[in-house]
Amino acid sequence: MAKSFLKWAGGKTRYARLLESLSPPKWSGKFVEPFMGSAALFFQVEPDRAVLADSNEELVICFQEVRDHPHEVMGLLDEIPNEKEHYEMVRSTDPATLQPLHRAARVIYLNKTGFRGLWRVNRQGRFNVPYGAYERPYYNRDAFLMASKVLQGAKLRCGDYRECLRSARKGDWVYLDPPYVPTGAWGDFTRYTAGQFLGSDHEELATQVRSLDARGVHFLLTNSDTPFARDLYSGFGMGILETRRDIDLRSRHRKSTDLVVSNYLGSAEIKNSISRAS
Ligand SMILES: C[S@@+](CC[C@H](N)C(=O)[O-])C[C@H]1O[C@@H](n2cnc3c(N)ncnc32)[C@H](O)[C@@H]1O
Repeated sequence: MAKSFLKWAGGKTRYARLLESLSPPKWSGKFVEPFMGSAALFFQVEPDRAVLADSNEELVICFQEVRDHPHEVMGLLDEIPNEKEHYEMVRSTDPATLQPLHRAARVIYLNKTGFRGLWRVNRQGRFNVPYGAYERPYYNRDAFLMASKVLQGAKLRCGDYRECLRSARKGDWVYLDPPYVPTGAWGDFTRYTAGQFLGSDHEELATQVRSLDARGVHFLLTNSDTPFARDLYSGFGMGILETRRDIDLRSRHRKSTDLVVSNYLGSAEIKNSISRAS
């Protein structure tokens, strides 16, 4: 089975099977994931046709290179030492000065050796995570090649989620996992890119989601369970999912509750599916 080759803040690897159990009953179109991050659900579903997007350019280039040149990316990773000084040199390199293959290897290297696998940038967009001192391989060869194979049917887009949503047609399945509405907890994390995803962005997202619904597109959305998020999606099926934030700045085991929203499952169906799959 395929699995993402990255660890990502808010990544859904742990819940991918559960989310897959919430897929539309009759689904014949393509899979669309406009906030792909590590694309955990995509790898779980292994769709023949998909559109994946993210506003993080480094991430999208990395996925493109893993799809198109997996052996070359692994070859470059094999050459990079897991040492603090080298990490800091790679971290301070401007990725725009590198060839795409080297940019891809840099993303995976920083992800596997940086503190808790966090991808965090400052306001200028510079990666600023400290060295993690982990002794682990950068990749698993079989899993990496499997991920590359599953990506063959995926179009990868760098940009705002709205652009990606334009490609969604009736019968497609769209999974939306935006940066979370902050809950005020220590685990809140939104700085994936130099820009921020603010309250007004969530309002705009809810408008976009209602337009998907009107076009007959199936959607599943996850967010933090807050009154604001519930209000934005009122009228759709909703359920809650007990989660553990994998990358929490203060605690590894802090519990949280996610809201799951859908236009093709009612609230009772979401609740039943989650309790069956948990
Ligand atoms: C919660 S993470 C998604 C995690 C993903 N489901 C996974 O399994 O790893 C949210 C992602 O949205 C991306 N993002 C933030 N603002 C965006 C925007 N306006 N358009 C597209 N992607 C955006 C971030 O770069 C981040 O990778």
